[in-house]
Amino acid sequence: TRPLKVALLGCGVVGSEVARIMTTHADDLAARIGAPIELAGVAVRRPSKAREGIDPALITTDATALVKRGDIDVVIEVIGGIEPARALIMTAFEHGASVVSANKALLAEDGAALHAAAEQYGRDLYYEAAVAGAIPLVRPLRESLVGDKVNRVLGIVNGTTNFILDKMDTSGAGYSEALDEATALGYAEADPTADVEGFDAAAKAAILAGIAFHTRVRIGEVHREGITEVTAADIASARRMGCTVKLLAICERAADGRSVTARVHPAMIPLSHPLASVREAYNAVFVEADAAGQLMFYGPGAGGSPTASAVLGDLVAVCRNKLNEATGPGESAYTRLPVSPMGEV
Ligand code: NDP
Ligand code: HSE
Repeated sequence: TRPLKVALLGCGVVGSEVARIMTTHADDLAARIGAPIELAGVAVRRPSKAREGIDPALITTDATALVKRGDIDVVIEVIGGIEPARALIMTAFEHGASVVSANKALLAEDGAALHAAAEQYGRDLYYEAAVAGAIPLVRPLRESLVGDKVNRVLGIVNGTTNFILDKMDTSGAGYSEALDEATALGYAEADPTADVEGFDAAAKAAILAGIAFHTRVRIGEVHREGITEVTAADIASARRMGCTVKLLAICERAADGRSVTARVHPAMIPLSHPLASVREAYNAVFVEADAAGQLMFYGPGAGGSPTASAVLGDLVAVCRNKLNEATGPGESAYTRLPVSPMGEV
């Protein structure tokens, strides 16, 4: 069988781990897929930066030329941000590639158009890594629970803010010190404002609400409040009341099924609740569905290696689909529901 060619767009915290695992697990991945995979090119911004384990001949700064080559089977987009990521994904679809992305900001801004383009060209768009790091959540909602009726998705979906709140609560660390540590560990976004102001969690809430309720929710429709106003005194007084403070994302379907709502804000959580024991950059998400009841998803929510695990899982799925000339769930499976402002549901 011919090798499937993979283009890697971005080789930072996540991309470098994806490249490393693609190399070290090459034989296992080939066995799982049924064909070998070949890293055909790696697009970056700074070509002279040392990149361990990557053949310098594969490095390019011309991501557009790489996705336009015409022989690429799968593009992995781990650049982040809206542009050029959006244009590169669209170009990839046009030129024959399916796409795996970790880019929640883009999916929450323009997911419907990206899915529509994927469907139009008969390609896949997979993005397990965009929500909750290593935790399988997107595909369980998109595939395993699609026969059930999900009514609520609630939990901690941002590792950086959980890390900061946890450090402030349990070790008395200051806000800035804890944020610096989260950044050094590769948890924070390129601009950590996205984490602390709740934009990252709001993007994830938009994605989760969309797939859970088979609709489309954009980030601008999510009520958002970050953790910048949470002080050490707030955390101490929560503790005195037997609680801790967590940044929650809450997505709900209206009782009449006609609208959905999504919101992100800090909340007091009783210490006896499972969410209170989510430490460091871990995430935990409860899903409530008619037939299944309550499910809890828990695990590492950020960082290069956990996120790469989710990317690689998608890569295998997309490669298998390619070989079978099939695609995963498409845009036409979605019906539009209005998104209500917070409190109206
Ligand atoms: P980084 O900032 O570490 O890496 C970004 C990479 O993209 C770098 O290699 C950079 O090049 C490259 N890049 C930037 N602009 C361009 C461009 N115009 N053309 C080509 N390459 C470019 O980010 P992360 O790896 O942390 O995040 C990547 C994506 O994954 C984001 O969407 C993020 O939200 C998402 N994500 C991140 C997680 C994490 O824990 N870090 C977890 C889940 C998702 P250079 O190396 O030369 O600077
Ligand atoms: N910055 C994000 C977080 C990365 O801290 O959760 C994982 O999506």
